Amino acid sequence: MSEPTFTLPVRSLDAAVAFYRELLDREPAARTAKTARFDLGEASLCLVHTQAPSPPSLSLPGPRPGTHVDPDGHVVELRAPTRTLRGPTTAALHTGVPRTAGAVVSPIHRSTVFELGEVKSYGDIVYPRLANTPTHASLHAALAALEGTAAALSFASGMAAISTTLLSLLRSGDHLLAARTLYGGTSGLLREELPAYGIGVGLIDATTPEGWAAAVRPETRVLYVETVSNPLLDVADLESLLSFGRSRGLLTVVDNTFLSPVNLRPAALGFDLVVHSATKYLGGHSDVCAGAVAGSTELVGRIWKTQHHLGGTLDPQAAWLLERGLKTLALRVDRQNQSALRLARFLSAHPAVREVRYPGLRQHPGHDRARRWFRGFGGMLALRPADPERFLSRLRLPTYAASLGGVESLVVVPARSSHMTVPEAERVSLGITDDLVRLSVGCEETEDLLADVAQALD
Ligand SMILES: Cc1ncc(COP(=O)(O)O)c(C=O)c1O
Repeated sequence: MSEPTFTLPVRSLDAAVAFYRELLDREPAARTAKTARFDLGEASLCLVHTQAPSPPSLSLPGPRPGTHVDPDGHVVELRAPTRTLRGPTTAALHTGVPRTAGAVVSPIHRSTVFELGEVKSYGDIVYPRLANTPTHASLHAALAALEGTAAALSFASGMAAISTTLLSLLRSGDHLLAARTLYGGTSGLLREELPAYGIGVGLIDATTPEGWAAAVRPETRVLYVETVSNPLLDVADLESLLSFGRSRGLLTVVDNTFLSPVNLRPAALGFDLVVHSATKYLGGHSDVCAGAVAGSTELVGRIWKTQHHLGGTLDPQAAWLLERGLKTLALRVDRQNQSALRLARFLSAHPAVREVRYPGLRQHPGHDRARRWFRGFGGMLALRPADPERFLSRLRLPTYAASLGGVESLVVVPARSSHMTVPEAERVSLGITDDLVRLSVGCEETEDLLADVAQALD
């Protein structure tokens, strides 16, 4: 985590200042914070104090914009409410670390060594493995703004985010309840790794509450699902999962990779933690491997401590690339939503296609839920062409490749790639068969994609 950085939603500059003073009293970590950032909804306020002497009695110069130095030597930057920050993208674009020399884009801090200020805890040492360089801080502020959470933390991959999160929340003897249909790597972690740490795993159908009560145990601690599952595009019954989790005192963790925060912000629904393979939509350009978790300062701080030991931290170069990708996330996802919906409608009416799975289609079993919660239905769809080999060999635009969420369309047979390590009997019982084709819709013109898919089926 980019600790010490605090991102807090408040309504006005005065409220931000009051909140900050209160925070200094309540949260010891805030006393050593170099950056406190307030997402005002209507303005962006940054309080930056460098080389904080012991506990700063921050005396703000009043809510006047500009850079000030207070009597304790804190550099305090106040940004005026020059514009309205309502949407997550606006917030993400305007919540990076304060500008250096006026540069609009944050620099990449490649340094692995940072001069020590006052060190009260291990996390006060700025070091890339601790994910607290200014480059990480800037990325984490943008990630938290997008997911609408108090804190966020980046990782070297989506699997690093998922494994570090689960290993920080679960101990030997604990039990995890998870959706039966998950990304193949996550299934592998649950099946092959967690039991070796003494962590039990139970599987449920996340689309219907039937069977959940029977699967929970006294030692169950965490409930883990994907908002939209990979590769079947099932829509989890998120509201029932949340009330079930709350009634049993479980921490709720959701993988929001397929939707991205543009289509759903699960923390706003009530999920405790949101994980991502940032390699997909968040990065968006198929050139960075990364992961993320977003949630409360307390929970993300806990995961951050585990990350210190497991070490799956994102390199600053990749952190910078990821932050760059985030800036265009909404533009890309909006276009991918539109193209995927048109392709799904076209494919579902085509005689050479036996089944199309896309939450935006009325016939999808999770359609009503998706309409209720999602801003858009996403850029992922799955289909069963009557002749999958012919379809795949005739497609011209989508590249046959694993991964997803980039600007270029990709197509793959999950049974032979992302899910090939899932035991065959389980794969087949779930419907992940050799005729299931997964399409990641890119940012090409919709008409070009429609024409390509049409000629591949003709
Ligand atoms: C839904 C989902 N979660 C997590 C992951 C793992 O992410 P990564 O490959 O970045 O480790 C993937 C990868 O495809 C995925 O599709």
